[in-house]
Amino acid sequence: MINTRKAAVIGCGFVGASIAFSLMQRGLFSEIVLLDVDRDKAEGEAMDLSHGLPYTAAISIYAGDYDDVADCALIVVTAGANQKPGETRLDLIGKNVSILRSIVPELSRRGCEGILMIVSNPVDILTYAAWKLSGFPAHRVIGSGTVLDTARLKYLLGEHLQVDSRSVHAFVIGEHGDSELAVWSGANISGIPLTHFCELRGYFDHQASMQKIYEDVRDSAYEIIQRKGATYYGIAMAVARIAESILRDEHAVMPISVLLAGEYGLRDLCLSVPTIVGKNGAQKVLEIPLSDEEAAALHASAAQLGEVIAGLKL
Ligand code: NAI
Ligand code: 2OP
Repeated sequence: MINTRKAAVIGCGFVGASIAFSLMQRGLFSEIVLLDVDRDKAEGEAMDLSHGLPYTAAISIYAGDYDDVADCALIVVTAGANQKPGETRLDLIGKNVSILRSIVPELSRRGCEGILMIVSNPVDILTYAAWKLSGFPAHRVIGSGTVLDTARLKYLLGEHLQVDSRSVHAFVIGEHGDSELAVWSGANISGIPLTHFCELRGYFDHQASMQKIYEDVRDSAYEIIQRKGATYYGIAMAVARIAESILRDEHAVMPISVLLAGEYGLRDLCLSVPTIVGKNGAQKVLEIPLSDEEAAALHASAAQLGEVIAGLKL
């Protein structure tokens, strides 16, 4: 049986603790279980977060074990190594696949029926591995994908165009990583095509501006890691937003990482494309129009992930 008001965060480092904080702030759950291989760390985070309870909605946050996770509606996995300056997400694969191998069977063994959301990197590869290792239906195994990268794109476009980033409609899709792409062909500001809006603001050098913004989005994590060692607040807010759409069965469209089964001519890998997100997780993968160049970039991104997956023994 699922407890629809209960979530678990597995891995309580920078990202896991920030996600717990963000979920707590949103008041979506009445119970949050924190689990870490370092039990003291999970306990310390639970204590620290609990001291904010007099100033937020009623919620129980505690360090637990896998039996406590079994009935969670949402299980967020952030366990694993993060990038050191100069490392790519794909460089983490060896360490983090083996950590995932120690986590996912614990969930399957207990018959977990909640949504499994992978955040650890490389997120697309680990989402695929989690799906394979768990035996769960594909719609129940999702990755945070490029929801964060899409937020970065909206933020930077909002700054560039001096408009509220929530009025910017645009997606980053593909790998959450170096081969991702921005879907410029469909980007708009509340219905006004992006290039028209740029001209309204006095910008005419579209190619150069788009390339610069794309590179800034793609390289955001490297820039942050170089300065402060890790990224965690942006991803925490992205995960809380995905969790909200699941918990409230909103059917929001978000570029989460999902298993593709022929969409965009791709199959048997996970990557991010706009998907309807609701109480069952990935409700429907949407095939949005792409320019020829964007379709080719998506296929190149998929080819890179496909090669990595082919090298995994799952
Ligand atoms: P961190 O090193 O601060 O925390 C990792 C935590 O995982 C540690 O507390 C560690 O004890 C725990 N852990 C390790 N093995 C475990 C196991 N078997 N079971 C339970 N817990 C275990 O790292 P940080 O900065 O929190 O990053 C975590 C992951 O999230 C990294 O892979 C990082 O690349 C990824 N990340 C993903 C983002 C995304 O957009 N998908 C954004 C930011 C980070
Ligand atoms: C991020 O994009 C490192 O994947 C992490 O912030």
